[in-house]
Amino acid sequence: MENKTANVLIVDDRPENHLAMEGILKHSGCALIKANSGEEALRCLLDNEFAVILMDVQMPGMDGFETAALIREREKSKHIPIIFITAVEKARKQVEQGYTLGAVDYILKPFEPSFLKTKVGVFVELHQMRMRDIEARKKITRMAGELARSNRELEEFAYIASHDLQEPLRKIKNFTELLARQYQGRLDEKADEFMYYITDGARRMQRLISGLLSYSRVTTRKTPLSRVDLNTLVSQVVNSIQIKLDETGASVTTDGLPTLKADEIQIGQVFQNLILNAVKFRGQDPPEIHISAQKKDLPGKKEWLLGVKDNGIGIEPENSSRIFEIFQRLHLKEEYPGDGMGLAICKKIVNRHGGEIRAESRGNGNGMTVYFTLPDNGDRESNGDPNKTD
Ligand SMILES: Nc1ncnc2c1ncn2[C@@H]1O[C@H](COP(=O)(O)OP(=O)(O)OP(=O)(O)O)[C@@H](O)[C@H]1O
Ligand SMILES: [Mg+2]
Repeated sequence: MENKTANVLIVDDRPENHLAMEGILKHSGCALIKANSGEEALRCLLDNEFAVILMDVQMPGMDGFETAALIREREKSKHIPIIFITAVEKARKQVEQGYTLGAVDYILKPFEPSFLKTKVGVFVELHQMRMRDIEARKKITRMAGELARSNRELEEFAYIASHDLQEPLRKIKNFTELLARQYQGRLDEKADEFMYYITDGARRMQRLISGLLSYSRVTTRKTPLSRVDLNTLVSQVVNSIQIKLDETGASVTTDGLPTLKADEIQIGQVFQNLILNAVKFRGQDPPEIHISAQKKDLPGKKEWLLGVKDNGIGIEPENSSRIFEIFQRLHLKEEYPGDGMGLAICKKIVNRHGGEIRAESRGNGNGMTVYFTLPDNGDRESNGDPNKTD
């Protein structure tokens, strides 16, 4: 980071005092700017940043106190530390007056040179620390802006790419399927095999692309947040997949769930993905799925911790973050079909709502719980009455 030299302003009407100060401070690593009067000091302050001002109290015309009062009135200069320099015999009264005008320190004449050097050194160091801090903050703000822009661009790209790829891919898939139907068994065995691979590959690619498209739609097709009763939402989700649940003898139970401000469609998608995973990755017993809700009052934030717990095959704990990445799967496609997009989409949706998501499992065969948080945005809570209307 750039380390700019700090300026020190010396305000004194006497050239011999300027010379003496210069002699003392010449190796202090700061730039000395001299003003012969209060008026000149105010002019210097218009154009420059200063670490500290060394102000002689007694000057003809505007004295040190009047100058200090004007410095304190200006927004740009009101925070600059001022050290008054005054003769010992006048000190007591002046010190009192000076402090009411915002002096940070005093040096009484005659003074020990090292004393002045040390005091100025402290203010120069403080100023440089502040400048470094300001620079660092600016850099962080700039970088956050760049990151947000590049994320937006990436998302737009992912959306456009996946959207536009669908059409040519559909053509490839349709025509190879047609080819396969019309020429199956009429060419040689190898040709049949090749056609199978082409159609299978095209179908897979179509599924992957539509997964990517759903992923990018989490942010490109979002709807504004509205009050959502999670009890009603979960019942709707359960109804929509009832056939699948019945096929496997699955049961879904819930705690009393809250009413929150959320994107109803997206949070419904989260519950649906998690419940369907619990059913898909079931063990020997019929799936038992429980949806829990716990209110968390943490310092500075209030949130709900929601959990979807199952009694299925579970995962090894070391894989618990990997499964939230795009296309990441732990199980064989032949045994458990899927593309590895469901949890990545859940994560994006939860993050978009300002929450976090994680999985907990005590290893294979021990079931799994996916926990996610949603901010408690101060809305009225539901006590579990699914018939409540807004
Ligand atoms: N409830 C669960 N129990 C055990 N393993 C799970 C569970 N949920 C997810 N997993 C593991 O995490 C992987 C990623 O899950 P995800 O939902 O993203 O993909 P998927 O279900 O395989 O495919 P898709 O959701 O795209 O149809 C799964 O392939 C599986 O290995
Ligand atoms: Mg899934």
